[in-house]
Amino acid sequence: MRLLVTGGAGFIGSHFVRRAVRAGHDVVVLDKLTYAGNLGNLAGVPQDFRHGDIADPGIVEAAARGCDAVVNFAAETHVDRSIIHGADFLRTNVNGVHVLLEEARRSELRLVHVSTDEVYGDLPPGRSSREGDALQPSSPYSAAKAAGDLLVLAYVRTYAVDAMITRGSNTYGPNQYPEKLLPLFVTNALDGEPLPLYGDGKQVRDWLHVDDHCSAIELVLQDGTKGEVYNVGGGNEVENVEITRRVLELTGTDESLIRPVADRPGHDRRYSLDTTKLESIGWTRSRPLDEGLAETVEWYRANRHWWEAIKQSPEYRAYYERQYASRLET
Ligand code: NAD
Ligand code: TYD
Repeated sequence: MRLLVTGGAGFIGSHFVRRAVRAGHDVVVLDKLTYAGNLGNLAGVPQDFRHGDIADPGIVEAAARGCDAVVNFAAETHVDRSIIHGADFLRTNVNGVHVLLEEARRSELRLVHVSTDEVYGDLPPGRSSREGDALQPSSPYSAAKAAGDLLVLAYVRTYAVDAMITRGSNTYGPNQYPEKLLPLFVTNALDGEPLPLYGDGKQVRDWLHVDDHCSAIELVLQDGTKGEVYNVGGGNEVENVEITRRVLELTGTDESLIRPVADRPGHDRRYSLDTTKLESIGWTRSRPLDEGLAETVEWYRANRHWWEAIKQSPEYRAYYERQYASRLET
């Protein structure tokens, strides 16, 4: 197939592009290269790169010419940034998805829209979200992602667009921008800097290796059914304080680095996904958490140049100061 991969210079998108090229697909990448986009993530990968915004219909039309399918990773993705300033989240995660749907409709493209478990909101212990559950997003990020999901389902129903949605859980692995919990804590630990743990640290996230996330998306692209939603969970529900301890062990640092700080407003307590549906079309995980975490920490240890360049950039420093300076003072 000729695939348009939007957001292909980001964390999960770049892993997917490598995988798709290895599988023999021709890949066009469309990416705006926001603070989170990084062409270095695609170094050595043969693909046709287009710089541009998914919310721009002309750019999307040109990039999609001759393609059979679109896989949409492009999004503003960080909850804390959405709490500071939500406008870009609406433009990309809602208007951008609308532009992609219009193109899929016009050019009869298959569309896999990559979404998140956060659209379900948080869950009490013992429950897991299924694909038909109500959407109850808590943050501007997850509300915008939920709006994108609803647009996709509306286009399937109204225009019979051949679209599907995947909802993945917290994903980790190499090349993740160091603002999310794992890459932030790993790189801070490697530098002997404090690890700012929000609230009581007992929030639960379900950790999914990026390879397993990408294999699920590839499977849905090939064998998914139009109009269906597929949960992609890691099967690894762990409290934040526990994953933090594992980071300390793997980086050879100690608990004195943990700094409990003011909680995130609206912080979801727990996510959990029922993945029976995806397994019923043949998905299995291949990356156990212990092994995946150890390899990820080794990648950050060996690729200091990759994350130091980001952490030293004025953009990152301004964000870090705004998000953490007053939290770390108290
Ligand atoms: P990321 O922030 O690392 O990368 C996002 C990419 O999208 C960047 O390359 C950025 O430049 C690009 N982009 C942003 N706005 C754009 C626009 N308007 N037009 C074109 N490109 C644009 O994100 P990620 O963590 O790789 O997430 C990819 C997708 O997976 C997102 O849709 C996200 O909601 C979803 N997801 C992520 C996780 C996770 O834990 N990271 C979990 C579940 C789902
Ligand atoms: P994050 O990586 O931002 O992903 P998400 O909000 O999409 O789950 O956060 C994962 C968990 O870690 C979440 O419960 C918030 C918490 N967290 C901290 O405790 N400190 C931090 O500095 C960050 C970024 C996250």
